[in-house]
Amino acid sequence: MKIFITRKIPKQGLDLLLKQGYKIEINKYNRALTKNEIINGLKNKDGLLCLLTDNIDKDIIESESKLKMIANYAVGYDNIDIEAATEKRIPVSNTPDVLTDTTAEMAWALLLSVSRRIVEGDQYTRSGKFGGWDPMLMLGQDISNKTLGILGTGRIGASFALKSKGFKMNILYFDEKINGKLEKELNAKKVGKSELIKKSDFISIHLPLNKSTFHFIGLKELKNMKNNAILINTSRGAIINEEALAKALKENWIFGAGLDVYENEPVLNSKLLVLNNIIIQPHSASATFKTRSNMAIIAAKNMIEGLNGKIPTNCVNKQIFK
Ligand code: DGY
Repeated sequence: MKIFITRKIPKQGLDLLLKQGYKIEINKYNRALTKNEIINGLKNKDGLLCLLTDNIDKDIIESESKLKMIANYAVGYDNIDIEAATEKRIPVSNTPDVLTDTTAEMAWALLLSVSRRIVEGDQYTRSGKFGGWDPMLMLGQDISNKTLGILGTGRIGASFALKSKGFKMNILYFDEKINGKLEKELNAKKVGKSELIKKSDFISIHLPLNKSTFHFIGLKELKNMKNNAILINTSRGAIINEEALAKALKENWIFGAGLDVYENEPVLNSKLLVLNNIIIQPHSASATFKTRSNMAIIAAKNMIEGLNGKIPTNCVNKQIFK
C-alpha cells in the first residue's frame, strides 16, 4: 500500500505506517502544497494523510481511483469535501480527544492574556516605557465571578468550561443539546445565542465550521456584546466576520479579542494587525509536543484501519459502511 502525506508529521505516526510495510511519500517542501501538487502526489496512492491546511475537494478526491482512505491530521474536517468522499465510499477520519485539553488550555491562555493585557504589557516593559508603579497603568478585566459564555459545548468547549472552576464563574452555554455534566458540575445554564451574547463577559467559540456557523459572529452580535466583553476563538476563523470584528475592536464596542484562527488563513486581516486590543496566535492551539505526536499516532492508526477494510475508529462518514 502506498500513502501520500501532505506535510511532515511527527515520527511516531510515520513509524506506525512504516511498520505496516506501507510505502510513504511525504511533501518535501516545508509549506502547504498546491492543489496540483496534491493531485500529483496522490497518483497511484491508496491513502491520503492530509492537514487542515489542505483543501481536499472533489477534484482531488476523484483524481485517484485507487484512493481508499483519507486520514485528516486535525479534529476539524471542514477542509475535506465529505460528500465527495462519501459518494466514492472513501472513509475519512479525524483526530478527536487527544487535543481536547490542549486546545482548551490555549483558549484559557488567550482569555487570561487579553483580560490582563499580557502581550501589551510585555512589549511596554521591554521597550523601556515602564517608569514605575502607576495606579492607572495597564488596567484590564477581572475574571473571577464573571459570566463566561461558551458557544458549542462539545469535547473542547466542555473541557474549556470545566477549567473555569477555580474562577467561580457563572456559566452560560449555547448548544443544540443539553450538557448534563456542565449543568451538574458548574450549574451551567443553556441559553439562546442572543442571551449568551448580551450577558457574557467572556465568549469563547468552540463550534465546528459549517454553513450554519459561517459568520456566526458579525456586526449585530458584536454590537450586542457588553463593552467589557472579550471574544476568544480557537475553533475556525470563518465563524467570525473579521471585518466586523476589526470595526468593533477599533471602536471599542468590546474590550478585546484573542484569536488562534483566521478567516483566510494564513492571510491575516490587516485591520486586525494594527490593533492593541487583540492577541493573535498562529493556529497553534493544539501545538504541544505530546498532542502533536498523539495526533500523528491517531491519524496513522485510522489510516491502517481504513486500508485494512475496517471502520476507522474516528471515521466521520461511517454511513458508507452501512
Ligand atoms: C484541529 O485539529 O482542528 C485544530 O484546529 C488543530 O489545531
